[in-house]
Amino acid sequence: MNPRNEDLPRHVAIIMDGNGRWARSRGLPRYAGHRAGVDAVRRTVEAAGDAGIEFMTLYAFSADNWKRPREEISGIMRLLDRYLQSETQRLVEEGVRVTVVGRRDRLRPRTRGLIERTEEATRGGTRMRLRVAIDYSARETIIRAAKLAEGREVTHEEFAELMACAMHCEPDYPAIDLLIRTSGEMRLSDFFLWESAYAELYFTDTLWPDFEAKDLQAAIDEYARRERRFGEAHSPRLVSIR
Ligand code: IPE
Ligand code: IPE
Ligand code: MG
Repeated sequence: MNPRNEDLPRHVAIIMDGNGRWARSRGLPRYAGHRAGVDAVRRTVEAAGDAGIEFMTLYAFSADNWKRPREEISGIMRLLDRYLQSETQRLVEEGVRVTVVGRRDRLRPRTRGLIERTEEATRGGTRMRLRVAIDYSARETIIRAAKLAEGREVTHEEFAELMACAMHCEPDYPAIDLLIRTSGEMRLSDFFLWESAYAELYFTDTLWPDFEAKDLQAAIDEYARRERRFGEAHSPRLVSIR
């Protein structure tokens, strides 16, 4: 096996934001923005695989998104169902293993069934892992994991495993290396607070439906220019010699 390229993030996560504004700027209903957002998901997953990204996490629907109008929520859920239905075969062919993280009890039985079907069908994928966050809240995940710990002292690794149990996560998912948020917003909106502890943050004004392979590449290039220190001192190569 080739040695890993340290400049390439192993785990890229994206807060896919700006669908509503994309639609509004075109005089279209918000649903049209979400529909265009699904095309951006397809493009991005393919581009990530081509770039050699091993793990990807996408924020599709937050626990707080239930506060949106019913009509918008059912539109998003319909698009999710359709994505799972129409993409599974292609994801299998591309070697992408899909899992869904988040609560499932508030989803429609139909959506739950499609999630299980996609997870099962793509289980053998080895080229890339894709984790989709649906009805996800990082704070809720942390609270549930803390309850599972029952007051025991646990290591970071053990706590990560408890969070995996609490929210249908995969226990072997590594921490987020590069976290991208589109649409110019600079906040985390309850997305993987624990796993982003040392993530490199990248914000772009591009609205999610306009996001393309070149935008992903720009974020990856920026990541390669960053120096990750994890609390250590500057690396000597970056100290300027005068
Ligand atoms: C992100 O786009 C998609 C979801 C949150 C489901 P938004 O719908 O939040 O788009 P804006 O932020 O209103 O533009
Ligand atoms: C976060 O975006 C959720 C997703 C992208 C799915 P929001 O648009 O819901 O976040 P806020 O409300 O602007 O913080
Ligand atoms: Mg938004």
